[in-house]
Amino acid sequence: MITLGIESSCDETSCALLENSNKLLSNVTATSLAKHQAFGGVVPEIASRHTLEHIDRVYVASLKKAHKQAKDIDLIAVTYGPGLIGSLLVGVSFAKALALALDIPLIGVNHLQAHVYANFLGRRMPGKPFLGLVVSGGHTSIVRFHKGVFKELAITRDDACGEAFDKVAKILGLGYPGGPVIEKKALLGDPESIRFRCGQFKNSYDFSFSGIKTAVLYYVQKSKNVKKELANICASFQKSVVDDVVTKTIRVAQAENIDLIVVGGGVSANSFFRDELKERAARAGKKVFFPLFEHSLDNGAMIARAGYALFKQGKRSDLTLSAVPSLGFK
Ligand code: KG4
Ligand code: ZN
Repeated sequence: MITLGIESSCDETSCALLENSNKLLSNVTATSLAKHQAFGGVVPEIASRHTLEHIDRVYVASLKKAHKQAKDIDLIAVTYGPGLIGSLLVGVSFAKALALALDIPLIGVNHLQAHVYANFLGRRMPGKPFLGLVVSGGHTSIVRFHKGVFKELAITRDDACGEAFDKVAKILGLGYPGGPVIEKKALLGDPESIRFRCGQFKNSYDFSFSGIKTAVLYYVQKSKNVKKELANICASFQKSVVDDVVTKTIRVAQAENIDLIVVGGGVSANSFFRDELKERAARAGKKVFFPLFEHSLDNGAMIARAGYALFKQGKRSDLTLSAVPSLGFK
């Protein structure tokens, strides 16, 4: 069975062909990243126009790379939320038209759930409940997953984890996206040099990253030489955010008596985060799965993988499927 996965929730337009649950035949992505850099963040109109201009080319390239034709596709899976309305609508409309023309089933995929499913490209789905941790540019959530059902256990109450990286990078004049550049600068800094703190709540493992962003802003405003302190600011900020995410995730895993943590979303591309979580989870007797680096960021492969799983659970969408920009985990 061949599934076409289509992702267009933000600045990436991606199509992938997946054979059954595991054999990835192609995964082609076009990004409008460079066009947003001058603005310090994603401009929705530029992102949706880019998707509109590139989606057919990306689709054809994904077929070609997989040595397949349109008639070989059995199922179309498409992100229908959360994300930017314009970009989502292009992907959803394209998927619906193709499903109608090829007369094959269509399935709408939740982008957040798909970040978790990215881990099961080339890996078996566990039978036991596991913890999903999604750390992306728009979301920070810890969920419990069992038999296709997600239950949200902790969320961010303000900025998302990746958004905090992006906003701090903007404050420091480092451009967009912030995560990779902060990670690189942090390599040369001392993570213990400055004390930045993330928000904490009583009786809750929820996240808050808007305070730490403001703390960095005040620090920068007071600093006599930001350039000289840049590496230390990046290292200290990164350490504090990673420490908060890792600590809360392990605590939730302990509270839920779950021994497997499955990570997804753009921030999971961060090596410092991967190393910290792996090491501290191992000390707590927990196992961690990360997606391949190329499946950490937005991609069609994870949509195909999630769509295939949903299809096997008996789920289907029809041609009334529409974009839901503020979709939650469920
Ligand atoms: O999952 P993703 O590609 O898109 C969304 O669904 O939001 O995540 C993008 C986010 C951006 O905020 C970006 O700064 C962050 O992931 N990111 C990173 C790294 N690479 C990407 N954050 C920290 N370290 C990285 N290496
Ligand atoms: Zn994403």
